Amino acid sequence: NSPKIVVFGSCSVDFTTYAPRLPNPGETLHGTKFTTSYGGKGANQCVAAAKLGGNAYMICRVGDDQWGEKYRNHLKETGVDVSHVYITPNVTTGIAQISVADNGENQIVIVLGANGHLSKKDAADSHELIKSADVFIGQLETPFEATLEAFKINEGIKLLNAAPARSDIQEILPYCTILCLNEFEASMLTNLNVNLENAVDALNKLLSAGCQTVIITLGSKGAVYASKDEPPTHVFCEPVTAVDTTGAGDAFVGALATFLLSHKDLPMHQKIGAACEVASISVTKEGTQTSYPTNYTPFIKQYKYSKLQ
Ligand code: RIB
Ligand code: NA
Repeated sequence: NSPKIVVFGSCSVDFTTYAPRLPNPGETLHGTKFTTSYGGKGANQCVAAAKLGGNAYMICRVGDDQWGEKYRNHLKETGVDVSHVYITPNVTTGIAQISVADNGENQIVIVLGANGHLSKKDAADSHELIKSADVFIGQLETPFEATLEAFKINEGIKLLNAAPARSDIQEILPYCTILCLNEFEASMLTNLNVNLENAVDALNKLLSAGCQTVIITLGSKGAVYASKDEPPTHVFCEPVTAVDTTGAGDAFVGALATFLLSHKDLPMHQKIGAACEVASISVTKEGTQTSYPTNYTPFIKQYKYSKLQ
């Protein structure tokens, strides 16, 4: 039986408009394109893992509207185990309203809907699956107390993607084998204005908060990471032309989860380098899940890295 990647989190339908630039407050802009697609950070991460050959399971809630059943079928067709995808009566499936500018930047408003009903009881009811996950992934688009409960149950590698940004999640940090977040999210948690220059301070702060390993993704600058037993390291990333950066962080998380299991013995900078490469591939194409690679062969090269101190 191949090792399990279990995602506990959000599942949303993305309504995306593309426009030359992002609108200013009060402004109406002419867009160039509209798409409806499957998204949500949790499901994106799960699909990214499944597309790379990971044995992926999704624990989430969808609504009993026109999207819920469709979303479950979509996950199933993608190769995700959907035995723990629950339909909540009388609520809408989570949705995200997304604007993407020509330079690849985005702006997102989410409405939780059924995602807001993923509960502590759901975590308890999925006890066996959560406990036995080799990599267990959570995010912050579903109720925090449920994610915390699930992190207390799992006995494998617990990977928290602290997105979207929040400052009040200290309680879960001691349970995080790996905390993965971007500069903005790291800033919210550390009260620093995190960038490559002060990344070491941010990493140290988050390690002292209890995480075993912290990874801060830096977009086109790659990622920095540190562990209790590994000094701060910067992993570089090949530049690409961004078309749509939505869900790139999710591609990174799903890919990292997969490589943690499929290439256990490789050094961390190699796994992070490959996960950055998967995220880079995703930003060159429109959409989130639709832009994640399937025929990707990792580790055919040595990713560049340097120690930060
Ligand atoms: O991380 C990208 C995701 O965040 C999108 O798919 C959208 O659903 C938002 O929640
Ligand atoms: Na993309």
